[in-house]
Parts: sequence; C-alpha cells; structure tokens
Amino acid sequence: MSNPRFLARTARTLRWPPAATRTTPIASRQFQGQSPLRGDSAARTDASIQGKTPDASIPASTLLTGNGISKFNPTLPSFSLAGKVAVITGGARGLGLAMSQALVMSGADLAIVDLNKDEAVHQAQEIAKLFAQRYPNERTPKVTAHYADVSSKSDVEASLAEILGEHKEINNLITCAGFCENCPAEDFPAERMRRMLGVNVEGTYFYSTAVAKHMFERKIPGTMVFIGSISGSIVNVPQPQALYNASKAAVRHLAASLAVEWADRGIRINCLSPGYMLTEIALKAKILVDNPGLKAEWEGKIPQGHMGAPEELMGAVTFLSSDASRYITGQEIKVDGGYTVC
Ligand SMILES: NC(=O)c1ccc[n+]([C@@H]2O[C@H](COP(=O)([O-])OP(=O)(O)OC[C@H]3O[C@@H](n4cnc5c(N)ncnc54)[C@H](O)[C@@H]3O)[C@@H](O)[C@H]2O)c1
Repeated sequence: MSNPRFLARTARTLRWPPAATRTTPIASRQFQGQSPLRGDSAARTDASIQGKTPDASIPASTLLTGNGISKFNPTLPSFSLAGKVAVITGGARGLGLAMSQALVMSGADLAIVDLNKDEAVHQAQEIAKLFAQRYPNERTPKVTAHYADVSSKSDVEASLAEILGEHKEINNLITCAGFCENCPAEDFPAERMRRMLGVNVEGTYFYSTAVAKHMFERKIPGTMVFIGSISGSIVNVPQPQALYNASKAAVRHLAASLAVEWADRGIRINCLSPGYMLTEIALKAKILVDNPGLKAEWEGKIPQGHMGAPEELMGAVTFLSSDASRYITGQEIKVDGGYTVC
C-alpha cells in the first residue's frame, strides 16, 4: 500500500474532478450557449465537401504486437474461436482492425468486409502472416477481404455470397462499420444525416438480418457483436453530435431487440460500446486538432486516466463471440475506462 505509484493514482482519483476541470467545466461552457467550441470550430461536417466516408487521406492502421498476443496462452478453452468463421464489417482499420486481429489470434477464420477493399486485402494478408509467425506449428486461419458499402442492401448480399464462396459457413458477426460527425444539430445537412443513419443503423440491420437468414437456413447457432458507443447512452460534451448519439442508441437497442427475437434460434447478440478510443482518426479529429487541451480534459474525466487503445477491445469482442459468454445475450458491455459510471 505504500507503493508511491499506487498512492499517486489514488490521490488523482480522490481529487475528483481534477483541478483543471473544476475551474472550467466543459459542460458549463457548452450550455451557456456562447461556447467557443460550438459552431464551425467543432464541426467536421461541411456541406461543400462531398466524399465517401471515411477520409481516405487518413493513414492506414498498424497491427498490434504488444500485450494482446503472447506465445503461450493457457486459458479456458471456451474462449477459443478455433473452427469458427467470423465476419467483421469495417475491419480494415481502426478499432475494427484490432478486433479482426483478436478474432484470428483466437483461432477464427475471418472475412473482412470494408468500403476500402484495398486496405482490407492488405490487412487480411498481414493478420494471417502475423498468426503464422506467432504459431508456426498451427494451422493459419483463412483470412479473406470483401468489398461492401454496408448501407447498401445489395452490396451486403453480394458480399455475403462472395464470403460463402470462400468459407464453409458464418458463425460470428461483428458489425463495426460506422462513423461520427460533429455538427450543430440545426445545421446538419440532410444528405449527411441519411448517410450516417444508413451506415451506422441500416448497415447494422442489413448485415445482421442477412447473416441471421444464413444461420436460419443452415440451422446453426451463432453470435453477433454490434459495435455501439458510450454515446448511445450518454451525451458527450462539448462536441455536438446528436445524430451520432441517436444512431448508437439505435444500435444498442437493435442488439437487445434482435437478441430476444432470435434467442430461440440459438443466436446471441450483444452490443460492445467503446468509450474514447485513440485511433489514427481520433487523433486527427478536427475537434482535437482545433482544441489542444481537450484530450487532457476528457482524460481528466476518465477514472482510468487515459483514452483507450484499440487493443483494449480485443478481449471483450473475443469473449462476446465465444462460448465463454454463452448465457449472455441482449447486453451492452462498455469498454470506457469507467467513464460512464461517474
Ligand atoms: N474511435 C472511437 O473512439 C470510437 C468510440 C466509440 C465507438 N466507435 C465506433 O467504432 C466503430 C469503428 O470506429 P473507428 O474509430 O475504428 O473508425 P475508422 O474510421 O478508423 O474505421 C472504420 C472502418 O469502417 C469502414 N467503413 C466506413 N464506412 C463503411 C461502410 N459504409 N461500409 C463498409 N465499411 C465502412 C472504413 O473503411 C474503415 O475501415 C464505429 O462504428 C464507431 O462509431 C469508435
């Protein structure tokens, strides 16, 4: 107990909220209505900008080689995904890439579905290579890459047909394709609204229902993990992102509703909701670039004291996809360093 690092951490936890945050609370700045963070300075949406989401100029994510992987892993066999075939949407970069890696390193064959097919192809090869290097005496899982814009039902169906041409069946689905834009609600362009709901909500719906039909036809059980967000149950400040928050609330409740509807078909569905995660895109987010110091303010409100690393989702997605969670369905797990319990 006299460990100085422990005492320092305890002191930081007890001094709540931290001094810097106490003097200029984000919430009060926003709700006074004149916040310098409101309006253009916080908005990532610009009606004059036309383009596909996400921004292709953002550099590719890199595979993780740290704590998530070790050479010898004594663990409960029920956590293994060996013999399973998983599909992940939005798996080519960011959080989806870390989860793709988790599924393969847990033994699953994997189909990565992404708008960015080139990146998906590259990362599929890299993940398989990493597995072969780590476990040279084991069978290397088959990892394939497929194009789909998940907001398009026909794209979803075409990608599934392609996947089933290369894999025997589908046992696990992770829906991670999604994006966030900050914009004052009254200014959010209608076509961007439709795009966000199309990808975040309809994309989840199209993919999960298509995979469920496949499982019904084959009479096989399965799991689905919908990637939500803490924004589905709290309102982040100071960034204006009402529609994103609503879209993630929809994802969370869709998981619960489908879990009940399909429970007797042997399909489990849960929602995995990350908190503030440090991806390449997050680091370059306009709101953080324009507001140096905001990251420190957010981190001051996270009990664990830092934004999350993508690899911190690897355990939760594996758990929810595996038999280790076989009596858990319709639930939400938040991976947020304790942010939402304060
Ligand atoms: N990064 C965070 O802090 C955070 C926090 C909570 C929730 N999330 C959620 O996690 C998910 C991934 O976020 P990220 O930060 O890793 O994003 P990201 O932009 O780094 O990666 C998203 C991936 O999805 C793909 N994609 C986007 N739109 C698509 C579409 N229409 N069809 C198919 N693929 C598409 C992209 O090409 C990309 O590979 C999103 O659903 C996001 O809302 C992120």
